[in-house]
Amino acid sequence: MPEVEKTLALLKPDSVRAGKAQEIMQLIELNGFTIIAKQKLQLTRARAEEFYGEHYGKEFFPKLVNFMTSGPIWALVLAKPGAILAWRALMGPTNVFKARAEQPKCLRALYGTDGTQNATHGSDSPASAAREIKFYFPHLVPDPVSDPAAAADY
Ligand code: PPS
Repeated sequence: MPEVEKTLALLKPDSVRAGKAQEIMQLIELNGFTIIAKQKLQLTRARAEEFYGEHYGKEFFPKLVNFMTSGPIWALVLAKPGAILAWRALMGPTNVFKARAEQPKCLRALYGTDGTQNATHGSDSPASAAREIKFYFPHLVPDPVSDPAAAADY
């Protein structure tokens, strides 16, 4: 059994605007994840540009930032053995049209809108999970002085 991991999930403006956030959170729990932290927020342009900084300069970057600042989102910390890969599998392919064609029961197929608005986000590696959890939930990051063992995971 893979070790219990944490990952960062976002429910993006399209799925939240459609009133699907609670339904998606239920599906997340039915799939064996524990939601250990959650908050609803709206990203500013500066915060969205920082969060997606690795994609700065790509053709889709302005569209991505416009979309991610277009309404409230939910940020969630999910825990489960192998959570990073398991959450990405549950979301399905990044492109909603590909998701609908290849995995019609995945979350992006069910709740995504189009090539830009794809309903959910998930961290793609342990390093990005650590960075992204810290980005939305800085208080959850273990203190390296009082809890060095836990902090070593980050
Ligand atoms: S890349 O270039 O392969 O690293 O990009 P990818 O991993 O496919 O996607 C990175 C994030 O950019 C979003 N994205 C887009 N947004 C708007 N329009 C277009 N065309 C587009 N293509 C990719 C994609 O949803 C990823 O966001 P997250 O939040 O990580 O899912």
